[in-house]
Amino acid sequence: MSPIKKKLIIGNWKMNLTVHEASIFVHTLSQSIAVHRDVEVVLAPTLLALQPISLQIDRRQFKLAAQNFYWRDQGAFTGEVSAAQLRGLVEYALVGHSERRHVFHEHDKDIRSKVQAAVRNGIRPVLCIGETAHERSSGETADVLHDQLLGGLANVTSEELGQVVIAYEPVWAIGTGNNATPDDVKKAVRAIRRQIEHLYGQKAANEIRVLYGGSVTPESAATYLATDGIDGLLVGGASLSGPSFTAIVGLAHHEGEAA
Ligand code: PGA
Repeated sequence: MSPIKKKLIIGNWKMNLTVHEASIFVHTLSQSIAVHRDVEVVLAPTLLALQPISLQIDRRQFKLAAQNFYWRDQGAFTGEVSAAQLRGLVEYALVGHSERRHVFHEHDKDIRSKVQAAVRNGIRPVLCIGETAHERSSGETADVLHDQLLGGLANVTSEELGQVVIAYEPVWAIGTGNNATPDDVKKAVRAIRRQIEHLYGQKAANEIRVLYGGSVTPESAATYLATDGIDGLLVGGASLSGPSFTAIVGLAHHEGEAA
């Protein structure tokens, strides 16, 4: 259907590992994860570790992502880090992760400003969207995805959309061990691509990369990777285990070979 895309595997370490531990972990991963032309591996360590890790990695093997940033480029915003400051250091940045939305009360307006700030600074935003358990049981999944997409992408031009990655992360599946079924994922991805088509046209809908995230393990990864319309995975817990993350990257490579 679409041209062959590399699988994108992002490891979100969240607020885990000290700078020293992160550096040791990257070293371990660099020994176990092979460079595959059909897989892009991205690490999202704590903000503090980005600089030292950027000096440690081979960018053909790993790229970096920020877990968060503030949308203004500079100014009196004590404690914040901007996309302008991350420019050149990271290739990607997560935006609208459910923990940002629910623990830190980020709204679509903040998220949209962050998407724009990332794009403005040459960083690819990974816009995370997904419904809560309650929204799911009330049959609101499609509406939630619609609103979060519309909210996050407002003001993004067709040209800028090429920078954007969408991650479908049902909130009830994050860190819970409750996997979404392939059918859930297929439906959600179809809804996402349909809306992108509506907003930006069919070519954009085919080309945009859509990831799945939520309790991905080496056991469940292959099924998601083989799901129509899924271009990769956003991995939390399992990305903190060297063997698990290595196995997931290996599965993405095999899936690429099979495609
Ligand atoms: P999880 O996290 O894999 O631990 O569920 C995914 C995420 O938060 O992106």
